[in-house]
Amino acid sequence: VVTKWCDPESSERVDLLLTSGGTGFGLRDLTPEAIRPVLHREAPGVAQALLNEGLKHTPLAVLSRPVVGTRHASLVCTLPGSVKAVRENIVCLKALLPRIMELLKEGESSHVQPYANAPGQV
Ligand code: MTE
Repeated sequence: VVTKWCDPESSERVDLLLTSGGTGFGLRDLTPEAIRPVLHREAPGVAQALLNEGLKHTPLAVLSRPVVGTRHASLVCTLPGSVKAVRENIVCLKALLPRIMELLKEGESSHVQPYANAPGQV
């Protein structure tokens, strides 16, 4: 489903894909492991920014293991499951999204899809 929503040719393509939940330490919390393989480029700095923002609210923010990255020109972020945590993460993302989206759009308009056929990409 993630690949379909990020596929440049898809009629269902989205600029931003947010998941919620499954980022913790529970044995069934496997969202980061599911998302990471379908990303073309990880953005650990943005993930770090999400954790930093969370730490302003609770030391337990580090119990989520966010994965952020791009697939083609879409940004994918794995957010924690609680409404409170999502709100806190969105505050942080809102500040970053305009510039990230601008940069992703620039790549799109030049019709560059460097990851479309890259070896090892799924
Ligand atoms: N991040 C923020 N910003 N605010 C929070 O309250 N809760 C943490 C963490 N991240 C929290 C947060 C807690 S207590 C847990 S257990 C994990 O997110 C849960 O992540 P999950 O719901 O994705 O498994």
